[in-house]
Amino acid sequence: MNTEELIRQAKAAREHSYCPYSHFRVGAALLCGDGTVYTGCNIENAAFSPTNCAERTAFFKAVSEGHRDFKKIAIIGETEEYLPPCGVCRQVMLEFVDPSRFEVVMAGNTDACKVVKLAELMPESFGSKFF
Ligand code: THU
Repeated sequence: MNTEELIRQAKAAREHSYCPYSHFRVGAALLCGDGTVYTGCNIENAAFSPTNCAERTAFFKAVSEGHRDFKKIAIIGETEEYLPPCGVCRQVMLEFVDPSRFEVVMAGNTDACKVVKLAELMPESFGSKFF
């Protein structure tokens, strides 16, 4: 699946965002090794801390359906500029992927889009290698 199509699916998922507190809609689309795509949106909560980001929603949906092999994720916010994933989401991604291969596609409302490897976003990371 090409990057444009993955961004399109992330944008569609952004429509489902539940964000009555921040009014900041985010969508994500996660491409699995077998070609399956799981989308996600941010889901906020009145108690704030239970809020789940779009990226984690997509990952948790995929893992809960038996997927462990992931190729790339597209993320789109409401910003003009591309939206980088938060630190918590980076850590969750790291749990399941090889950071030197997994691609993070960061998109925004303009055509500005940046594609990086997760390793670039998470240098010197803590993970399963220490167990
Ligand atoms: N948010 C995401 O969904 N993904 C990110 O990577 C950044 C932040 C959401 C969480 C919250 O609902 C809103 O954006 C404002 O922080």
